[in-house]
Parts: sequence; C-alpha cells; structure tokens
Amino acid sequence: METPRVEPGTPDAPGPPRELSGTVTLPDSTALLVRPIRPEDEPRLARFHAGLSDRTVYQRYFRPIPLAQRVRHARLSRLCFADFHTEIPLVVVRGAGSADEEILAVGRLHRDPGRPEAEFALVVADAWQRRGVGERLLARLEAVARALGCTSLTGTVLAENLPMQRLCHRLGFTLHAGTGGEVTAERTLVPGAPP
Ligand SMILES: CC(C)(COP(=O)(O)OP(=O)(O)OC[C@H]1O[C@@H](n2cnc3c(N)ncnc32)[C@H](O)[C@@H]1OP(=O)(O)O)[C@@H](O)C(=O)NCCC(=O)NCCS
Repeated sequence: METPRVEPGTPDAPGPPRELSGTVTLPDSTALLVRPIRPEDEPRLARFHAGLSDRTVYQRYFRPIPLAQRVRHARLSRLCFADFHTEIPLVVVRGAGSADEEILAVGRLHRDPGRPEAEFALVVADAWQRRGVGERLLARLEAVARALGCTSLTGTVLAENLPMQRLCHRLGFTLHAGTGGEVTAERTLVPGAPP
C-alpha cells in the first residue's frame, strides 16, 4: 500500500488531513474508501453502532456498553470533531459520496502531543468481518503512524480475541501477554522505511 502523505492541521486551522484518504481493495475485489472521519458522519456512525453485536462491542471496548450510551451525541460528536493532533479516526466506507454511504469499520490512532508512540484500536461491522477490511484498515493506520514520524504503534487486545492477534501477527506486530487478560500488540516503526 502506498504510504499516505500526512499534513496535520496547524493549531490555527486544525482539520482532517485529506491525504489520509485512499481506496482499498478486498480479496473479493470489492473496492472501499478509507478516509478521515467528518463531522457529518455522526448519523452514519450511529447506524454503524446499531449493527454491532454484543461480542464485537466487548472485544473492542473490553466491556459491554449499551447502544444508547455508544450513540450518545456528546460521545459521537467528540469522535466526529476529532482533534487531529492527538486522535486520527479513520472510517472505511462503501458508497462514498452517495446518499447511501455506509461506514463499515472505524479505526483510530491516538498519540499524546509531542510523544513518538501511537496507539491504535479498530472495529469492523459484524457483517463485514473476515473479508479483509480489518487487515487493510490496520495497515493504513500503521502507514499513517509511520508518516507522522511515530516510532512505535501499540494496541491492546483481549487474550481471547485470537482473530485480532492473528491479524496483528500477520502485519508484523509482536504480541506480549499482560497479567490482566489482555495482550499488547506492538510494532516498532522506522519513519519513512517501507512496512
Ligand atoms: C478483529 C477484527 C478487527 C478483524 O477484522 P476483519 O475485517 O474481520 O479482519 P480480516 O478479515 O482482515 O481478517 C480476519 C480473518 O478473516 C480472514 N479473511 C480475510 N479475508 C477473507 C476472505 N475473503 N474470506 C474468508 N476469510 C477471510 C483472515 O484470513 C483472517 O483469518 P484468521 O481469523 O484466521 O486470522 C474484527 O473482527 C472486529 O472488529 N472485531 C471486534 C473488535 C475488535 O476485536 N477490535 C480489536 C481490538 S482493538
């Protein structure tokens, strides 16, 4: 995958770096768009959450969170109006630009200001899992972290979440078992180097 060029907004004009958009093609040839989240995504994000199974929610957040809480306006608007200096939320969509545009997956990078380490988390709609979306989204998050000059990328995964651990392993992450039923997936990044 081509490394995206990243130009985070300036403090005066923070905004989604447009360079983060790109097409991904699944093994079944379906082409989807990955792009930064936008303020107008809130209703799409609510529909995305409404379609998540309890199991998927648990694997993403490590606890059950009722739908009403997940789609609360304050919560969704925080995500949709992200401060791109610290949070980079990306969505994978189909039907981009149409009235039926649909969010199929959400991933985010987080980094503390001035720190070179980034963290990731992602979730794919149940109906779209096992089609290669997660792998492509995580690869894109990693490419973005690399382009931002981050030196490591880390994610926390439940110990029971073997599909996510296999995915991380396939993409070159090292897995470390923690003591609290979680596994840390970590990859050292060399800025500018090919993945
Ligand atoms: C974990 C998760 C992100 C993986 O996303 P995904 O889109 O299903 O991932 P992929 O399709 O890229 O890969 C998953 C599996 O599908 C398989 N797969 C990919 N394309 C496939 C295809 N066309 N046909 C059949 N299987 C396929 C992969 O080989 C992989 O198999 P494995 O489980 O044996 O490793 C997704 O299941 C999810 O959102 N889970 C809940 C949230 C979560 O766990 N988040 C992680 C914590 S940060």
